[in-house]
Amino acid sequence: MRFDRSARNGLMIVALLSVGASAPAQTRDPVPIVLLAPAPLPTLAGSTSVGALVVTHGGVGSGPEYADGVRAAADTALAVLLARGSALDAAIAGTVWLEDDPRFNAGTGANIRLDGHTIQMDAAVMTDEGRFAAVGAIERVKNPVRVARAVMDSTPHLFLVGEGATRFAHRIGFADIVPVSPQAEAKYRARMRRQAESFGRRDTTVFDWRRYWNFPGAMPADMLEWGRHGDTVGSVTRSADGHFAATLSTGGTSVTLCGRVGDVPVYGAGLFAGPAGAVACTGEGEQIIRRFLARSVYDRLAAGVPAKQAVQEAVAMFPERWDVGLIAVDRTGWGVAANRPMAYGVAGR
Ligand code: GLY
Repeated sequence: MRFDRSARNGLMIVALLSVGASAPAQTRDPVPIVLLAPAPLPTLAGSTSVGALVVTHGGVGSGPEYADGVRAAADTALAVLLARGSALDAAIAGTVWLEDDPRFNAGTGANIRLDGHTIQMDAAVMTDEGRFAAVGAIERVKNPVRVARAVMDSTPHLFLVGEGATRFAHRIGFADIVPVSPQAEAKYRARMRRQAESFGRRDTTVFDWRRYWNFPGAMPADMLEWGRHGDTVGSVTRSADGHFAATLSTGGTSVTLCGRVGDVPVYGAGLFAGPAGAVACTGEGEQIIRRFLARSVYDRLAAGVPAKQAVQEAVAMFPERWDVGLIAVDRTGWGVAANRPMAYGVAGR
């Protein structure tokens, strides 16, 4: 697996050295390598399970107060499976449910970007047959994950972005609406207040937002930095006949230039599905892309590692300073792990 080895709470390998000062080197005891149990994660769950199965997440950083939303999304997706819908139909139904709940950063609840106006969203879908499609930086649609499905079903392409993705959606009948909500506006105002001091700094050692500002309008006078925030919604599914799918949707990380796209629509980064299971991520997109995270975890499933162990190890190996969470289903069970609180829902039969 290509995970960062500088993780804080990963599998700690401790070398216990025998340091008897007078002992000749050749008679020293061998150096035992002790593999300690992983440190506990703030979010970790999983179990064995057969039959139809759904796992949803509300984004790393979403606390227990979101439990009803992710549970309802999982139930909705399971109902699709029980009505003989495909694994993909079900995964989309779960993610649409979360896009329509304004508490989550996707669809109706998508983050408002730094200029106070722009909403750019990413979404992706993938099946265990290797079918993949995505939209990036799409605007003015209510359910980006449905547009990603339309890219898969109706075009020869894998990925549409920006104005082209938006026009495609409207052309095929998606309503032209800005999915803004009072919740998203409140989140924007709160972040602006919280981060004012940092954006006001003249020292630009982190990033000079003034220099590279690329939104259509001027930078707001009270410009600020926003903190990391729960960021994506997703669903992974297994149908009763053993097919898998994964879907994701996000309003993206708040503190970005216009046009920034994270891990969600990047093949192998935000999600992956195949004959061994399905994986969906949440967290700091740039870090997830660098680690090819969903595909790396999928490879572990394909090697026979149980879903819970695979996601736990992936999160444990991620640098602590970056938020990350994962959900996965495999042939015999499911797993959820995150290095912050993360609401998740599980439904199966
Ligand atoms: N994980 C969502 C994003 O970085 O945009």
